[in-house]
Amino acid sequence: VEPDPAGAAEPVGRDRVVAVVGTGTMGQGIAQVALVAGHPVRLYDSAPGRAGEAVAALTARLDRLVEKGRLDAGAREAAVGRLHAAGELAELADAALVIEAIVEDLTVKRRLFADLEEVVAGDAVLATNTSSLSVTAIAGGLRLPGRFVGLHFFNPAPLLPLVEVVSGFATDPDVATRAYETVKGWGKTPVRCADTPGFIVNRVARPFYAEALRVYEEGGADPATIDAALRESGGFRMGPFELTDLIGQDVNEAVTRSVWDSFHQDPKFTPSLAQRRLVESGRLGRKTGHGWFPYAEGAERPEP
Ligand code: NAI
Repeated sequence: VEPDPAGAAEPVGRDRVVAVVGTGTMGQGIAQVALVAGHPVRLYDSAPGRAGEAVAALTARLDRLVEKGRLDAGAREAAVGRLHAAGELAELADAALVIEAIVEDLTVKRRLFADLEEVVAGDAVLATNTSSLSVTAIAGGLRLPGRFVGLHFFNPAPLLPLVEVVSGFATDPDVATRAYETVKGWGKTPVRCADTPGFIVNRVARPFYAEALRVYEEGGADPATIDAALRESGGFRMGPFELTDLIGQDVNEAVTRSVWDSFHQDPKFTPSLAQRRLVESGRLGRKTGHGWFPYAEGAERPEP
C-alpha cells in the first residue's frame, strides 16, 4: 500500500489500531496511554502468555483509576473492550501505528521490524521506544525506512508527559510530524530531536550521574549525602543514587555504556567502576530490593 500523502502529517485517528510490541514496564505504560486516548490497542510479546498478563495488569490499573475517581466506569468498560492480546505478529496487520518496547538489543529489534514490515500496511508508522540505540541503525534493514521514527517515552509512561520524537537519518519529516501530533493528542508533551546518542534527556543526564559517582569514588561524600545535597538545593526531585536505584543500575549503566561507545569512548562518558561492581553483585536497585540503598521492608536507609 502506498502512503497517502493527503493524510501524511495528520495524527493517527482514534479509530485506528495502535499495536504495542513488548509488554514489559514500558509497553504496558504506553499501551495504557493509547488506550485511554481512545484507540483500539493490540499487545504482542514473544514470551508466551506475557501479552495476556499485560491485558490483566492493564485492566487492574484501569480499575484503580476508577476507584480513585480518575476514570469513569463507562470509559473503563469501553477501554477494556478495545484492548486485545495478539497471539501472533500477524494479528497486528491492521495497525496504523506500532510502538516497539522490547529488549534493548539492536539485532533483536532489527529482526522484529523486518518481520513487522511483512505484516503491516505500507502506510503504517513504525516506532521504537529505544533509550539508547540509534534510530537510524534500527531502521537500517527496513524496505521503507521513511516510516520509522523514535518515540521515546519516560517511565512511568502514563504519568510523565515528555516524549522525545526522534528522527533518524531516513525518517520522513511527515512521519515525524504525524508521530508528534499523535502523542500530543494523547496529552503528552512531545519534543522533536535528531538521532544523536542518548537523544536529549539521557545525554544531558549522563554527567549528573557520572559526576555524582566520581565524588563518591573519590571519597568526597557518601551516596545519601550527595542525594540529600542535590535534592535540597538543586531543585532535583531525586538525587542521582536513589534515582538510579529506581531506574535500575543495570539499565542506567547500559545507557551510559551505549552513549560512551557512540562517542568513541570519550572519557567524559566513562562508565563508573563502582556502578559496575554494584551491577555484578546483583544489587540493581529497587527491583532487586537493594542497590545503593536497601529497599527490603523495614530496612533502615542511611541518614545523610
Ligand atoms: P522489559 O524487560 O520490562 O520488557 C520487555 C518485553 O519485551 C518483555 O516482556 C519481553 O518478553 C519482550 N520481548 C523481548 N524480545 C521480544 C521480541 N523479539 N518480540 C516481542 N517481545 C519481545 O523492558 P522495558 O524496561 O519495558 O524496556 C523496553 C524498551 O523501552 C527498551 O528498548 C528500553 O531501552 C526502553 N525504555 C525503557 C525505560 C525504562 O525506564 N525501563 C524508559 C524508556 C525507554
